[in-house]
Amino acid sequence: MQNIQMVDLFTQYQKIKSEIDNAMQKVIEKSAFINGYAVKEFGENLAKYVGTKHVIPCANGTDALQIAFSALDLPKDAEFIVPSFNYVAAVEVGAFLGYKPVFVESLEDFYNIDTTKIEQAITPKTKVIVAVHLFGQCADMDAIMEIAKKHNLYVIEDTAQAIGAKYITKNGEIHSAGTMAHIGTTSFFPSKNLGCMGDGGAIFTNDDELAKKMRCIANHGQEIKYTYKMVGINSRLDTLQASILDVKLKYLDNYIEARQKCADFYDNFFRNNAKIQIPVRNPQSTHVFHQYTLTLNENIDRNDLQKKLQEKGIPTMIYYPSPLHLQEAYQYLGWKKSTLPIAEKLSENVLSLPIHTEMSEEMLGYICENLREILANA
Ligand SMILES: Cc1ncc(COP(=O)(O)O)c(C=O)c1O
Repeated sequence: MQNIQMVDLFTQYQKIKSEIDNAMQKVIEKSAFINGYAVKEFGENLAKYVGTKHVIPCANGTDALQIAFSALDLPKDAEFIVPSFNYVAAVEVGAFLGYKPVFVESLEDFYNIDTTKIEQAITPKTKVIVAVHLFGQCADMDAIMEIAKKHNLYVIEDTAQAIGAKYITKNGEIHSAGTMAHIGTTSFFPSKNLGCMGDGGAIFTNDDELAKKMRCIANHGQEIKYTYKMVGINSRLDTLQASILDVKLKYLDNYIEARQKCADFYDNFFRNNAKIQIPVRNPQSTHVFHQYTLTLNENIDRNDLQKKLQEKGIPTMIYYPSPLHLQEAYQYLGWKKSTLPIAEKLSENVLSLPIHTEMSEEMLGYICENLREILANA
Protein backbone atom coordinates (compact mmCIF):
# COMPACT_ATOMS: atom_id res chain seq x y z
CA MET A 1 0.00 0.00 0.00
CA GLN A 2 1.24 3.51 -0.83
CA ASN A 3 1.84 6.01 1.97
CA ILE A 4 -1.38 7.61 3.13
CA GLN A 5 -1.50 11.38 2.63
CA MET A 6 -4.16 14.01 3.34
CA VAL A 7 -4.10 14.69 -0.43
CA ASP A 8 -2.15 13.01 -3.21
CA LEU A 9 -1.70 15.51 -6.00
CA PHE A 10 1.16 13.71 -7.70
CA THR A 11 -0.76 10.50 -8.38
CA GLN A 12 -3.70 12.57 -9.57
CA TYR A 13 -1.39 14.44 -11.97
CA GLN A 14 0.18 11.25 -13.31
CA LYS A 15 -3.21 10.05 -14.55
CA ILE A 16 -3.70 13.14 -16.74
CA LYS A 17 -0.04 13.98 -17.22
CA SER A 18 -0.03 14.15 -21.00
CA GLU A 19 -3.07 16.45 -21.11
CA ILE A 20 -1.64 18.78 -18.47
CA ASP A 21 1.83 18.79 -20.00
CA ASN A 22 0.42 19.53 -23.46
CA ALA A 23 -1.75 22.34 -22.14
CA MET A 24 1.21 23.94 -20.37
CA GLN A 25 3.47 23.41 -23.38
CA LYS A 26 1.00 25.28 -25.57
CA VAL A 27 1.06 28.29 -23.24
CA ILE A 28 4.86 28.24 -23.21
CA GLU A 29 5.11 27.94 -26.99
CA LYS A 30 2.80 30.93 -27.41
CA SER A 31 4.51 32.80 -24.53
CA ALA A 32 0.97 33.70 -23.48
CA PHE A 33 1.90 34.03 -19.83
CA ILE A 34 -0.17 37.01 -18.70
CA ASN A 35 -3.92 37.07 -19.36
CA GLY A 36 -3.40 34.55 -22.15
CA TYR A 37 -6.08 32.68 -24.09
CA ALA A 38 -6.33 29.90 -21.46
CA VAL A 39 -7.57 32.35 -18.82
CA LYS A 40 -10.48 33.38 -21.02
CA GLU A 41 -11.25 29.81 -22.13
CA PHE A 42 -11.16 28.45 -18.60
CA GLY A 43 -13.31 31.33 -17.33
CA GLU A 44 -15.93 30.58 -19.98
CA ASN A 45 -15.90 26.84 -19.29
CA LEU A 46 -16.17 27.39 -15.57
CA ALA A 47 -19.10 29.78 -16.07
CA LYS A 48 -20.88 27.03 -18.01
CA TYR A 49 -20.01 24.41 -15.40
CA VAL A 50 -21.37 26.33 -12.42
CA GLY A 51 -24.12 28.10 -14.36
CA THR A 52 -23.27 31.74 -13.81
CA LYS A 53 -23.22 34.66 -16.21
CA HIS A 54 -19.78 35.97 -15.29
CA VAL A 55 -16.59 34.39 -14.02
CA ILE A 56 -13.74 36.73 -13.16
CA PRO A 57 -10.54 34.74 -12.71
CA CYS A 58 -8.08 36.19 -10.19
CA ALA A 59 -4.91 35.34 -8.28
CA ASN A 60 -6.34 33.41 -5.31
CA GLY A 61 -9.45 32.88 -3.21
CA THR A 62 -8.51 35.57 -0.70
CA ASP A 63 -8.14 38.18 -3.45
CA ALA A 64 -11.50 37.03 -4.81
CA LEU A 65 -13.06 37.95 -1.46
CA GLN A 66 -11.19 41.25 -1.32
CA ILE A 67 -12.34 42.21 -4.81
CA ALA A 68 -15.91 41.18 -3.93
CA PHE A 69 -15.96 43.34 -0.78
CA SER A 70 -14.33 46.25 -2.63
CA ALA A 71 -16.93 46.21 -5.39
CA LEU A 72 -19.80 46.76 -2.95
CA ASP A 73 -18.81 50.37 -2.07
CA LEU A 74 -19.63 49.87 1.59
CA PRO A 75 -19.67 52.76 4.05
CA LYS A 76 -16.50 53.05 6.12
CA ASP A 77 -18.22 51.85 9.30
CA ALA A 78 -19.90 48.83 7.66
CA GLU A 79 -20.28 45.57 9.56
CA PHE A 80 -20.35 42.12 8.01
CA ILE A 81 -21.65 38.83 9.36
CA VAL A 82 -19.44 35.78 9.16
CA PRO A 83 -19.16 32.43 10.95
CA SER A 84 -16.37 32.23 13.51
CA PHE A 85 -15.74 28.53 12.89
CA ASN A 86 -14.16 29.14 9.52
CA TYR A 87 -11.00 29.73 7.52
CA VAL A 88 -9.67 33.24 8.07
CA ALA A 89 -9.88 34.65 4.52
CA ALA A 90 -13.27 36.42 4.52
CA VAL A 91 -12.71 37.84 7.98
CA GLU A 92 -9.24 39.16 7.25
CA VAL A 93 -10.06 40.86 3.96
CA GLY A 94 -13.18 42.51 5.38
CA ALA A 95 -11.23 43.66 8.43
CA PHE A 96 -8.27 44.75 6.30
CA LEU A 97 -10.59 46.99 4.27
CA GLY A 98 -11.70 48.57 7.56
CA TYR A 99 -15.07 46.85 8.03
CA LYS A 100 -16.11 45.20 11.27
CA PRO A 101 -16.49 41.41 11.38
CA VAL A 102 -19.46 40.29 13.48
CA PHE A 103 -19.06 36.64 14.31
CA VAL A 104 -21.98 34.25 14.33
CA GLU A 105 -22.37 30.80 15.79
CA SER A 106 -22.19 27.58 13.74
CA LEU A 107 -24.38 24.48 13.66
CA GLU A 108 -23.02 21.52 15.56
CA ASP A 109 -24.16 19.00 12.95
CA PHE A 110 -23.53 20.73 9.58
CA TYR A 111 -20.59 22.95 10.71
CA ASN A 112 -22.04 25.86 8.70
CA ILE A 113 -23.41 29.17 9.99
CA ASP A 114 -26.44 28.91 12.28
CA THR A 115 -28.90 31.03 10.34
CA THR A 116 -31.23 31.31 13.35
CA LYS A 117 -28.51 33.44 15.01
CA ILE A 118 -27.98 35.86 12.11
CA GLU A 119 -30.80 38.33 12.72
CA GLN A 120 -29.77 39.05 16.29
CA ALA A 121 -26.32 40.05 14.99
CA ILE A 122 -27.71 42.57 12.50
CA THR A 123 -27.39 46.29 13.32
CA PRO A 124 -28.10 49.38 11.17
CA LYS A 125 -24.44 49.17 10.08
CA THR A 126 -24.64 45.59 8.79
CA LYS A 127 -24.20 45.48 5.02
CA VAL A 128 -23.00 41.99 4.12
CA ILE A 129 -23.45 38.36 5.11
CA VAL A 130 -20.63 36.04 4.12
CA ALA A 131 -22.04 32.55 3.51
CA VAL A 132 -19.24 29.99 3.75
CA HIS A 133 -19.85 26.46 2.48
CA LEU A 134 -17.54 24.71 4.90
CA PHE A 135 -15.92 21.34 4.12
CA GLY A 136 -17.93 20.92 0.89
CA GLN A 137 -21.56 21.29 1.87
CA CYS A 138 -23.73 24.37 1.28
CA ALA A 139 -24.86 26.64 4.10
CA ASP A 140 -28.63 27.21 4.39
CA MET A 141 -28.88 29.57 1.42
CA ASP A 142 -32.69 29.78 1.50
CA ALA A 143 -32.55 31.30 4.98
CA ILE A 144 -29.51 33.47 4.27
CA MET A 145 -31.01 35.00 1.11
CA GLU A 146 -34.34 35.57 2.87
CA ILE A 147 -32.68 37.41 5.77
CA ALA A 148 -30.54 39.41 3.34
CA LYS A 149 -33.59 40.45 1.34
CA LYS A 150 -35.51 41.46 4.46
CA HIS A 151 -32.63 43.62 5.75
CA ASN A 152 -31.36 44.82 2.37
CA LEU A 153 -27.94 43.19 2.70
CA TYR A 154 -25.46 41.84 0.20
CA VAL A 155 -24.45 38.20 0.34
CA ILE A 156 -21.01 36.92 -0.66
CA GLU A 157 -20.83 33.16 -1.01
CA ASP A 158 -17.40 31.73 -0.24
CA THR A 159 -17.36 28.44 -2.11
CA ALA A 160 -13.62 27.75 -1.91
CA GLN A 161 -14.35 24.38 -0.29
CA ALA A 162 -17.54 23.49 -2.16
CA ILE A 163 -17.10 24.04 -5.87
CA GLY A 164 -19.42 21.68 -7.71
CA ALA A 165 -21.81 21.23 -4.75
CA LYS A 166 -25.48 21.58 -5.61
CA TYR A 167 -28.11 23.22 -3.43
CA ILE A 168 -31.80 22.47 -3.71
CA THR A 169 -33.93 25.45 -2.73
CA LYS A 170 -37.21 25.01 -0.90
CA ASN A 171 -38.90 25.74 -4.26
CA GLY A 172 -37.09 22.77 -5.76
CA GLU A 173 -34.61 24.79 -7.86
CA ILE A 174 -31.10 23.37 -8.12
CA HIS A 175 -28.17 25.79 -8.03
CA SER A 176 -24.41 25.37 -7.93
CA ALA A 177 -22.55 26.58 -4.85
CA GLY A 178 -21.31 30.11 -5.47
CA THR A 179 -24.10 31.18 -7.82
CA MET A 180 -26.97 31.93 -5.45
CA ALA A 181 -25.80 35.19 -3.88
CA HIS A 182 -24.82 38.60 -5.30
CA ILE A 183 -21.23 37.39 -5.58
CA GLY A 184 -19.55 34.00 -5.22
CA THR A 185 -15.84 33.46 -4.67
CA THR A 186 -13.63 30.41 -4.95
CA SER A 187 -10.04 29.23 -4.61
CA PHE A 188 -7.94 26.91 -6.77
CA PHE A 189 -5.35 26.26 -4.05
CA PRO A 190 -3.69 22.93 -5.03
CA SER A 191 -5.52 20.81 -2.44
CA LYS A 192 -8.96 22.19 -3.31
CA ASN A 193 -11.41 19.94 -5.19
CA LEU A 194 -10.53 21.91 -8.33
CA GLY A 195 -6.93 22.82 -7.60
CA CYS A 196 -4.13 24.17 -9.78
CA MET A 197 -0.36 23.88 -9.30
CA GLY A 198 0.10 27.17 -7.52
CA ASP A 199 -2.35 29.88 -6.51
CA GLY A 200 -5.58 30.73 -8.27
CA GLY A 201 -9.08 31.99 -7.62
CA ALA A 202 -12.26 33.21 -9.27
CA ILE A 203 -15.34 35.32 -8.67
CA PHE A 204 -18.86 34.50 -9.88
CA THR A 205 -21.76 36.86 -10.43
CA ASN A 206 -24.90 37.19 -12.51
CA ASP A 207 -24.85 40.99 -12.10
CA ASP A 208 -23.41 42.79 -15.16
CA GLU A 209 -22.49 45.96 -13.28
CA LEU A 210 -20.75 44.14 -10.45
CA ALA A 211 -18.91 41.96 -12.98
CA LYS A 212 -17.61 45.00 -14.85
CA LYS A 213 -16.49 46.64 -11.63
CA MET A 214 -14.79 43.53 -10.26
CA ARG A 215 -12.89 42.97 -13.53
CA CYS A 216 -11.76 46.57 -13.31
CA ILE A 217 -10.66 46.32 -9.64
CA ALA A 218 -8.74 43.10 -10.34
CA ASN A 219 -6.92 44.86 -13.18
CA HIS A 220 -5.44 47.90 -11.37
CA GLY A 221 -8.76 49.74 -11.64
CA GLN A 222 -8.42 50.09 -15.40
CA GLU A 223 -10.71 49.19 -18.27
CA ILE A 224 -8.46 50.95 -20.79
CA LYS A 225 -4.70 50.51 -20.39
CA TYR A 226 -3.13 53.29 -18.30
CA THR A 227 -6.50 54.88 -17.58
CA TYR A 228 -7.42 54.30 -13.96
CA LYS A 229 -11.10 54.52 -13.25
CA MET A 230 -11.00 53.37 -9.64
CA VAL A 231 -8.49 52.20 -7.06
CA GLY A 232 -7.63 48.62 -7.93
CA ILE A 233 -5.21 45.80 -7.31
CA ASN A 234 -3.24 43.43 -9.51
CA SER A 235 -4.93 40.04 -9.22
CA ARG A 236 -4.56 37.80 -12.24
CA LEU A 237 -5.00 34.08 -12.68
CA ASP A 238 -1.71 32.89 -14.14
CA THR A 239 -2.16 31.53 -17.69
CA LEU A 240 -0.26 28.31 -16.95
CA GLN A 241 -2.55 27.72 -13.98
CA ALA A 242 -5.62 28.43 -16.13
CA SER A 243 -4.43 25.88 -18.70
CA ILE A 244 -4.08 23.26 -15.94
CA LEU A 245 -7.47 24.13 -14.47
CA ASP A 246 -9.17 23.88 -17.85
CA VAL A 247 -7.97 20.26 -18.12
CA LYS A 248 -8.91 19.43 -14.53
CA LEU A 249 -12.36 21.01 -14.83
CA LYS A 250 -13.32 18.15 -17.18
CA TYR A 251 -12.57 15.72 -14.37
CA LEU A 252 -14.14 17.68 -11.52
CA ASP A 253 -17.31 15.58 -11.41
CA ASN A 254 -15.18 12.41 -11.30
CA TYR A 255 -13.05 13.91 -8.54
CA ILE A 256 -16.16 14.76 -6.55
CA GLU A 257 -17.51 11.24 -7.02
CA ALA A 258 -14.22 9.72 -5.84
CA ARG A 259 -14.34 11.88 -2.70
CA GLN A 260 -17.98 10.94 -2.08
CA LYS A 261 -17.07 7.25 -2.34
CA CYS A 262 -14.41 7.71 0.35
CA ALA A 263 -16.94 9.53 2.53
CA ASP A 264 -19.50 6.75 2.08
CA PHE A 265 -16.87 4.20 3.09
CA TYR A 266 -16.05 6.13 6.29
CA ASP A 267 -19.76 6.74 6.98
CA ASN A 268 -20.62 3.06 6.66
CA PHE A 269 -17.79 2.07 8.93
CA PHE A 270 -18.40 4.60 11.70
CA ARG A 271 -22.16 5.21 11.49
CA ASN A 272 -22.83 3.36 14.75
CA ASN A 273 -19.65 4.24 16.58
CA ALA A 274 -20.73 6.04 19.76
CA LYS A 275 -17.38 7.78 20.20
CA ILE A 276 -17.58 9.92 17.08
CA GLN A 277 -20.13 11.87 15.08
CA ILE A 278 -19.69 11.35 11.33
CA PRO A 279 -20.42 14.37 9.08
CA VAL A 280 -24.16 15.02 8.95
CA ARG A 281 -25.53 15.41 5.43
CA ASN A 282 -27.76 18.39 4.75
CA PRO A 283 -30.70 17.11 2.66
CA GLN A 284 -30.75 20.44 0.78
CA SER A 285 -27.16 20.15 -0.43
CA THR A 286 -24.90 17.64 -2.07
CA HIS A 287 -21.62 17.23 -0.21
CA VAL A 288 -18.43 17.38 -2.29
CA PHE A 289 -16.27 16.40 0.69
CA HIS A 290 -13.39 18.82 0.45
CA GLN A 291 -12.83 17.52 3.97
CA TYR A 292 -14.17 14.52 5.83
CA THR A 293 -14.50 16.09 9.25
CA LEU A 294 -15.89 14.25 12.21
CA THR A 295 -16.54 15.32 15.78
CA LEU A 296 -15.01 13.32 18.61
CA ASN A 297 -16.79 12.85 21.91
CA GLU A 298 -15.60 15.47 24.37
CA ASN A 299 -13.86 12.95 26.64
CA ILE A 300 -11.53 11.73 23.88
CA ASP A 301 -7.97 13.05 23.98
CA ARG A 302 -7.62 14.35 20.42
CA ASN A 303 -3.84 14.92 20.58
CA ASP A 304 -3.29 11.38 21.77
CA LEU A 305 -5.59 9.98 19.09
CA GLN A 306 -3.75 11.92 16.37
CA LYS A 307 -0.40 10.73 17.71
CA LYS A 308 -1.51 7.08 17.73
CA LEU A 309 -2.88 7.38 14.18
CA GLN A 310 0.35 9.02 13.03
CA GLU A 311 2.32 6.11 14.51
CA LYS A 312 0.31 3.88 12.16
CA GLY A 313 1.13 6.15 9.22
CA ILE A 314 -2.27 7.86 9.19
CA PRO A 315 -2.17 11.66 8.96
CA THR A 316 -5.07 13.77 10.25
CA MET A 317 -5.68 17.51 10.42
CA ILE A 318 -7.65 19.88 12.60
CA TYR A 319 -9.72 22.35 10.63
CA TYR A 320 -9.85 24.65 12.61
CA PRO A 321 -8.06 24.53 15.98
CA SER A 322 -9.40 27.88 17.21
CA PRO A 323 -12.51 29.82 16.21
CA LEU A 324 -11.70 33.23 14.74
CA HIS A 325 -13.34 35.27 17.50
CA LEU A 326 -10.72 34.00 19.96
CA GLN A 327 -7.70 34.61 17.73
CA GLU A 328 -5.21 37.28 18.81
CA ALA A 329 -5.68 39.28 15.58
CA TYR A 330 -9.36 39.83 16.36
CA GLN A 331 -9.15 40.56 20.09
CA TYR A 332 -9.71 44.25 19.30
CA LEU A 333 -13.32 43.28 18.61
CA GLY A 334 -13.76 42.29 22.26
CA TRP A 335 -15.01 38.69 21.97
CA LYS A 336 -14.41 36.51 25.03
CA LYS A 337 -14.32 32.76 25.59
CA SER A 338 -17.75 31.08 25.91
CA THR A 339 -19.49 33.71 23.74
CA LEU A 340 -19.86 31.27 20.81
CA PRO A 341 -19.90 27.89 22.57
CA ILE A 342 -20.64 25.71 19.54
CA ALA A 343 -17.83 27.24 17.45
CA GLU A 344 -15.50 26.78 20.42
CA LYS A 345 -16.63 23.21 21.04
CA LEU A 346 -16.19 22.31 17.39
CA SER A 347 -12.65 23.66 17.37
CA GLU A 348 -11.86 21.49 20.37
CA ASN A 349 -13.36 18.28 19.01
CA VAL A 350 -13.21 18.14 15.20
CA LEU A 351 -10.81 15.90 13.33
CA SER A 352 -10.38 15.61 9.56
CA LEU A 353 -9.41 12.27 8.04
CA PRO A 354 -7.51 11.83 4.75
CA ILE A 355 -9.82 12.20 1.76
CA HIS A 356 -8.80 12.65 -1.85
CA THR A 357 -9.29 11.36 -5.35
CA GLU A 358 -6.57 8.70 -5.22
CA MET A 359 -7.55 6.71 -2.13
CA SER A 360 -7.90 2.96 -2.48
CA GLU A 361 -10.29 0.77 -0.52
CA GLU A 362 -7.22 -0.77 1.04
CA MET A 363 -6.16 2.60 2.44
CA LEU A 364 -9.67 3.40 3.63
CA GLY A 365 -9.99 0.00 5.29
CA TYR A 366 -6.61 0.42 6.98
CA ILE A 367 -7.57 3.87 8.31
CA CYS A 368 -10.96 2.66 9.54
CA GLU A 369 -9.66 -0.48 11.30
CA ASN A 370 -6.93 1.47 13.07
CA LEU A 371 -9.17 4.34 14.07
CA ARG A 372 -11.79 1.93 15.40
CA GLU A 373 -9.19 0.12 17.48
CA ILE A 374 -7.69 3.32 18.88
CA LEU A 375 -11.18 4.67 19.65
CA ALA A 376 -12.11 1.45 21.46
CA ASN A 377 -9.30 2.12 23.93
CA ALA A 378 -9.74 5.89 24.10
C1 LIG B 1 -13.26 28.82 2.94
C2 LIG B 1 -12.04 29.42 2.30
N1 LIG B 1 -12.11 30.68 1.83
C3 LIG B 1 -11.07 31.27 1.23
C4 LIG B 1 -9.87 30.62 1.08
C5 LIG B 1 -8.71 31.35 0.52
O1 LIG B 1 -8.22 30.83 -0.66
P1 LIG B 1 -6.72 31.09 -1.12
O2 LIG B 1 -5.82 30.25 -0.30
O3 LIG B 1 -6.73 30.70 -2.57
O4 LIG B 1 -6.45 32.55 -0.95
C6 LIG B 1 -9.75 29.29 1.53
C7 LIG B 1 -8.49 28.56 1.36
O5 LIG B 1 -8.12 27.68 2.08
C8 LIG B 1 -10.88 28.68 2.16
O6 LIG B 1 -10.81 27.43 2.64
